[in-house]
Parts: sequence; C-alpha cells; structure tokens
Amino acid sequence: MGHVLAVVSQKGGVGKTTTAVNLAAEFALRGVKTLLVDCDPQGAVKYGAGLRPNHTAYGLADYIAGTRTLREIVLPTTLPWLRVILVGTVTNESDQSAFQELMVETDLLPALLASARARCDVVIVDTPPGLGGIVRQVLSASQHVIVPLQCEPLALQTTPQILRALENISLDNEELTLDGIVLTMFDENNEVCTRVADYVRRHLPPDMVFDVVVPRSAAAAEAFAAGQPVVVRNASDASARAYAQLVTELQERFQ
Ligand SMILES: Nc1ncnc2c1ncn2[C@@H]1O[C@H](COP(=O)(O)OP(=O)(O)O)[C@@H](O)[C@H]1O
Ligand SMILES: [Mg+2]
Repeated sequence: MGHVLAVVSQKGGVGKTTTAVNLAAEFALRGVKTLLVDCDPQGAVKYGAGLRPNHTAYGLADYIAGTRTLREIVLPTTLPWLRVILVGTVTNESDQSAFQELMVETDLLPALLASARARCDVVIVDTPPGLGGIVRQVLSASQHVIVPLQCEPLALQTTPQILRALENISLDNEELTLDGIVLTMFDENNEVCTRVADYVRRHLPPDMVFDVVVPRSAAAAEAFAAGQPVVVRNASDASARAYAQLVTELQERFQ
C-alpha cells in the first residue's frame, strides 16, 4: 500500500503548490511511483508540474461530473514515474462552487485516493487554502499531512488554528499523522523572517517542525513560471536541495 500525503495550510500563497509539485517530482526522480492530485479549484498544478506539451486539461471536476473516465484524467509528465490528476474544468465562480458542493457530497475523492494508494507508492495531494469541505475529504483518506508555513508575522496567528483543526480531524482518521510544519520562502537576511522562524521553533514541539527549511529562491519561482519543478530544472539550487532533503526525511517515515 502506498502513502497519501496531503499538503495543507490555513493561508494561500505560502508555497503549498510549489511544495506539492516538488515533493512529487523528487519522489519520481528517485524511481518512486508517484501520483500528484490537484484538489484546488485554482488549478495551479497545471502550470508547474512538467506536463507533456499538448496535454488535455481534464481532471477531477470532469471525472466527478461523469464526463471523463479515470483513465482519461491521469496525465503523463516529463518524468516516467510521475503522473498527475489536474483539478479539471472549473473555469468560473459557479463552476467552482458546483465543484466544491459535489466534492463534499460524494465520496468520489476519498475513493479515488484509496484506489490511487493501491496502485502508487506515493500520492501527493495539493489542496485549496483553509480547512473547508474539500480539504476534509482529502484528509479523511490521507495518512500523512504537512503544513507549509511562510515566515511572516501572520503565520503565528494562523498556525495554532490549523494545528488544532488537524488534531481534531485525526480523531476521526486514526491513520493520519501530522508529519510537520515546513518553513518555506525563508530569507535569512530578512529579520522578520528569522524572528518568525525562531519563534515557531521555540513554541512548537521539535518533532512538529522539519529541520530542513525551504529558502526563498529566484530559481524556484522561475522554474514554476517555466512549467517545471525546480528539482527537475535546477537540482543544485538551494530550494531544490531542501525539497530533496524533505523527501529523504519523508522516505524514512514511510518505511
Ligand atoms: N522557495 C520559494 N522561493 C521563491 N518563490 C517561491 C518559493 N516557493 C513558492 N514561491 C512562489 O510564491 C508564490 C506562491 O506559491 P504557491 O506554491 O503557489 O503557494 P500556495 O499554493 O500556497 O498558494 C508563487 O508565485 C511561487 O512561485
Ligand atoms: Mg496553490
């Protein structure tokens, strides 16, 4: 049985998608059979996951609407061991709310994750910000969750909230482990950033925060803009090395 790892955070713009895409690509580069699933109606995975040119944009929304089969929405990438399921056709506001309602009403998403787990070694799930219905559905079928945390002052207010919520959710899903918080977009020359990082490390149990920190790097943002994970495009970049280290730590836990 493979492992389902959800990437979750209270806030948007903290590096969730970047983290999901790079962890998935790094697992795949190591020959681990990996599936990346985008559950965020914003659909950002499409831009950064290294899909083949001329791929279709069908995904979860089309599958749950019954217009595409599962086989049709599992897309290949430039990496042999990485497949991607996009969020699919959710282009406007009304699509988004219909998608959310359907996702919460049906058990298709947990069922899909359970069957993906039987076929893949690792299933990484990118989620919309917050802990709404979709994220709860994802967590009901996950064994692991990590929380990217951008080192900025507001992070200190939202972190206890999400940790409490995750604790509550794990009461319903005994299999779910909070693997930890990973500090993202870290800038050692920014005083606010280092202060927030120190505070987080002082106030949370040590096993709750990964030692490895993802630095802010131009290469990470550029890779995303060029449609590729930074671990593929620029493996020697500091952010790529951080994601590689994170995968090494996760692999140890997955054994
Ligand atoms: N380590 C990093 N260094 C520089 N820019 C980053 C880094 N991680 C993410 N970004 C950029 O920050 C923005 C938000 O990241 P994203 O992964 O989309 O966050 P989320 O999915 O939480 O909304 C994107 O423009 C992304 O390219
Ligand atoms: Mg995102």
